Amino acid sequence: MAGKLAFRISRNIERTGRPPIPQAYKWAEAYVATPTRPLLDMSQGVPGIPPPRPLLERLGVVASSPATCGYVPNAGEPLLREAMVKEMKHAYGEDTDVTPDDIAITAGCNLAFVAAVTAIADPGDEVILPVPWYFNHEMTLSMLGVTTVVLKTSPEEGFIPSPERCAALITPKTRAIVLVSPNNPTGAIYPPSLLLSFAKLARGYNIALIIDETYRDFITTGVPHHLFSPSPRPSSPSPISEPSEPWSWRSTFIHLYSFSKAYCIPGHRLGLICASPALQPSIQTALDNIQICAPRAPQLALAPLLPSLRPFVRGTADALAARHALFRAVLPPRWRVGAQGGYYAFVRHPFAGVRAQDVCRRLAQELGVVCLPAGFFGPRMEEGGEGGEEERWIRFSVANVDDEKVRRVCERLKECERVFGWEMQG
Ligand SMILES: Cc1ncc(COP(=O)(O)O)c(C=O)c1O
Repeated sequence: MAGKLAFRISRNIERTGRPPIPQAYKWAEAYVATPTRPLLDMSQGVPGIPPPRPLLERLGVVASSPATCGYVPNAGEPLLREAMVKEMKHAYGEDTDVTPDDIAITAGCNLAFVAAVTAIADPGDEVILPVPWYFNHEMTLSMLGVTTVVLKTSPEEGFIPSPERCAALITPKTRAIVLVSPNNPTGAIYPPSLLLSFAKLARGYNIALIIDETYRDFITTGVPHHLFSPSPRPSSPSPISEPSEPWSWRSTFIHLYSFSKAYCIPGHRLGLICASPALQPSIQTALDNIQICAPRAPQLALAPLLPSLRPFVRGTADALAARHALFRAVLPPRWRVGAQGGYYAFVRHPFAGVRAQDVCRRLAQELGVVCLPAGFFGPRMEEGGEGGEEERWIRFSVANVDDEKVRRVCERLKECERVFGWEMQG
């Protein structure tokens, strides 16, 4: 049993919420699975397939060499930083203006976020986060004593944040705007023109724009954005007034990336920060204190393989896009998709006046379907709320299930319409 501590816990940590996913698994414990009715888990944003074979083989070789057991520089293996410049040109276009000096390798994208915020914000500063948010972002800000300022998004706008509404939230204490595209939890993919508007907004107020692009490799419809280009092209006119100087991404933009999803190696902990060399020494001071260096074996294993893994990454993205289409096609008619992309679909349940939390709890307990209510991704966690419109949304991850499971989940969603006995609304 946990004894009583003779000292107090950090106030910032006490204020920080707990990761909500274990709550969903607690609900699922009540479900009695059978061979014909197994538990169906669409809650976790984890890769549903193993890493590519050549990567596993090379990981084995490099991890067992004594030469790879030492530290590497804080910024990461030079070979991987160079290789990532080429991958970024592949992802964003040949005119991508990025060099190895812009890149630091981190032990995962969560840590990239911790390091980036540590480098630019002090306790009491403000950072703007669209809601629904990726809960680790809000938790990190809270842990660091930085105030989260909520930028609401709406289903009518496809959960796409508005630069104009964001502008109204900026104060002298604002240090950054944080975006996630494709989004967790909504799946919304922010258009390049919107990201450019946010970049110009941030530049105009001399604040940073941090974009977490953990899921960028799963965009199959074009490039994620043109911000790394020396002259990014807006594809629609920007309503934000233009700063007088020409766009230079290094003044404003901090890009975060994860190797966990595209290469299916979340346990090996690799991520990346791409930011101006003027910011890198501060980022590396933070990294030196919290990780010294990122794990070395996966860096050495990935570096020479990256170009040859492009077909694997693209194949995974195409398979995921097909599964999104299947999910949309077999979802019962009264369940409405609000946004979809990357790993996630954000879906409105059909029960009038019922909180998504109660729907998810009963789905897990009675029908063995695990998914996450919108309340896990916003200020109103766990309790409260009246079952209003914004509480009707549920995140489904299509990444960690196969097509057959997607069909079975949708059959059970249909079944729950009858079993739950709640009044339904269009
Ligand atoms: C938006 C977002 N950022 C970061 C992460 C964590 O990435 P990593 O495993 O690289 O720390 C996740 C994982 O689900 C995520 O959804």
